[in-house]
Amino acid sequence: MMKIFNRIAELRHNLDLERKKGHSIGLVPTMGALHHGHAQLIKSSVESCDLTVCSIFVNPTQFNNSEDLINYPKRQEADERLLAEEGCDVIFAPSVEEMYPNGQQVLNMGFGFLETVLEGEFRPGHFSGVGVVVAKLLNMVQPDKAFFGQKDLQQLAVIKKLVHDLNIPSEIVSVQTIREPSGLAMSSRNLRLSEVEKKIATNLYKTMQKLKAEVLDGIAIVQALNHAKADLTDLDSFSLEYLEVVNSDTMQHVDDIKMAENVSICAAAHVGEVRIIDNIYLKQHG
Ligand code: PAJ
Repeated sequence: MMKIFNRIAELRHNLDLERKKGHSIGLVPTMGALHHGHAQLIKSSVESCDLTVCSIFVNPTQFNNSEDLINYPKRQEADERLLAEEGCDVIFAPSVEEMYPNGQQVLNMGFGFLETVLEGEFRPGHFSGVGVVVAKLLNMVQPDKAFFGQKDLQQLAVIKKLVHDLNIPSEIVSVQTIREPSGLAMSSRNLRLSEVEKKIATNLYKTMQKLKAEVLDGIAIVQALNHAKADLTDLDSFSLEYLEVVNSDTMQHVDDIKMAENVSICAAAHVGEVRIIDNIYLKQHG
C-alpha cells in the first residue's frame, strides 16, 4: 500500500525504518499535476531502487511570477492514482508552512554563470528557489538516487552542481524527455493550453528538429539559428523568448559544433498565456 505523509518527521521516521531493513531509496521530486513524463521518472526509480518516494510540492520560492504560481494546476486525486499505478511507495506532500515555517525568509543560493543565462536570465531567483527546495528534499529523504528530467536541462545542471558542491551523497539520474505524439514535450502547464494552442506549441519542437538537421548538414550554427527564429516570428499566439545552442553541461554558447562534446538546443516561448520550455540534444557524448 502506498503511504502518504504531509509531515517531515513522519517521513523521516518511516524512511529510517526502511533504511534499517537495508532498502535502497529513490526520490522523484515533482510539483504535481503529473503526466507521462513524471511517470517515466517513477518507472526509472521503481526499476532501480527498493523504495520510491515521490514528493509533490508546488514550491512558491521558485516562481518569479505570482500569476504562474496561482494558476499552477493541482490534481491531487489523479496524481495519487497515477503514482499508485506506477508502483510508487511513498508520497510526500508537505504544506508550504511545513516546508517554510512562519513564512521564514529562505536562504539564497547562487549558481554563478549557470543562473545568469537562459531560464536564469528570464526567471530571476528561480534557480535559487529550486536549489534550496531540492537540497531540503534531499536532506529529508536522503535517497540513494534522485531522478530528474532532461526536459529541464538547466535545472539538471544546477542540481548536479548543488549535489557536487555540498557533497550530498545521492546519485543524480537524468531521464529522457517524454513527448506527446505531436512532439510537444509533456508539461504540467500544457493543461492550460487550448487544443489550438497545443498545435501552435508543436512548432517549437519542429523548428528545433529542423535546426538540428541543418547544423548536422554543415550549416553554421548562427545561420541555422537565424533560419529557425525567422520560422517562429509570424506565428499567431506564439512569442519566442530564447532559442540557443549551448554546451549541455555548462550552458555556455556554442558557435561551432566541434567546440564541445555535449551540445543542446534550448528554447522557451509563450503560447497564449502559457510559458513552455524545451530542449533537444544536437550532439551527445557516449
Ligand atoms: P516539475 O515541473 O513537476 O517536474 C518534476 C520532474 O519531472 C523534473 O525533474 C522534470 O524535469 C521532470 N519532467 C517534466 N516534464 C517531463 C517530460 N516531459 N519528460 C521527462 N521528465 C519530465 O521540475 C520541477 O517540478 C521542480 O523544479 C522541482 C525539481 C520539483 C523542484 O521544485
